[in-house]
Amino acid sequence: MQPDDFPAASVWLVGAGPGDPELLTMKAVRLIEAADIVFYDALVGPGVLDRIPPGTERVGVGKRSGRHSKDQGTIDSLIVAAALAGHRVVRLKGGDPSIFGRSTEEIDACRAAGIPVRICPGITAASAAAASGLASLTLRGLERRLTLVTAHARAGEPLDLDWSALAAPDATLAVYMGRAAAGQVAAELMSAGLAPDTPVMVAVNVSLPGERLIRGRLDAMAFLVEAISDGDPALLLIGQAMGVSAPQAADRIATLQPLAV
Ligand SMILES: C[S@@+](CC[C@H](N)C(=O)[O-])C[C@H]1O[C@@H](n2cnc3c(N)ncnc32)[C@H](O)[C@@H]1O
Repeated sequence: MQPDDFPAASVWLVGAGPGDPELLTMKAVRLIEAADIVFYDALVGPGVLDRIPPGTERVGVGKRSGRHSKDQGTIDSLIVAAALAGHRVVRLKGGDPSIFGRSTEEIDACRAAGIPVRICPGITAASAAAASGLASLTLRGLERRLTLVTAHARAGEPLDLDWSALAAPDATLAVYMGRAAAGQVAAELMSAGLAPDTPVMVAVNVSLPGERLIRGRLDAMAFLVEAISDGDPALLLIGQAMGVSAPQAADRIATLQPLAV
């Protein structure tokens, strides 16, 4: 236990990782064990929740696409109220709190109330999916960029993304919350010039017992997601790096870049 990083009446936003409790950081475990109250998302894995000590109050504030059990303003108020009551508050968020996690609203709410707030990072779904698929998110000389994007649009609004920028052939694209829009994402990327045979890996329930990795091509992406149920988190990874397992990647790079060591 660090002596003074989790005083009473303070908040930590803690990254819970993709689900497997072994992918929690040691710091996350320490903070979870020290908390008086834990507010957790629907995507936090059951094995991670098991790390919350029996006497600690736990509150599910599970937000899932289209089925918000508590709106963001309510979550902000709950966290602030718990801290103002003198509790050590952990706000446990799936993956990394800084990636599509609405951390800023919670930080702003805490700061407006004068409550100390800090972030403990976690392993994001893209990192965990690549690890499960024995893939690299970048490929030396081929994939020089990694772009994280969400395909979740506000209710009633179209998906408004810069498709020509996302269709860059030298980038790996990680699409969060992309299952429902997978067909549209593929069509838009191909219209913007990305090759139909670009490799795709759809990663479902990464690091959890029901993990599935579905591989294919961009022009088949709509079909790759067909059998995934609404409740299962899925990430779309698109790019040359997804067609190459680690040993093959080394071969490919050696062939394409004989002088680059
Ligand atoms: C609201 S975003 C939160 C992302 C999270 N902060 C992170 O860093 O992974 C939720 C989306 O993350 C992805 N995701 C999170 N956990 C996942 C998992 N275990 N397997 C596959 N995708 C996951 C899915 O695209 C899901 O719809």
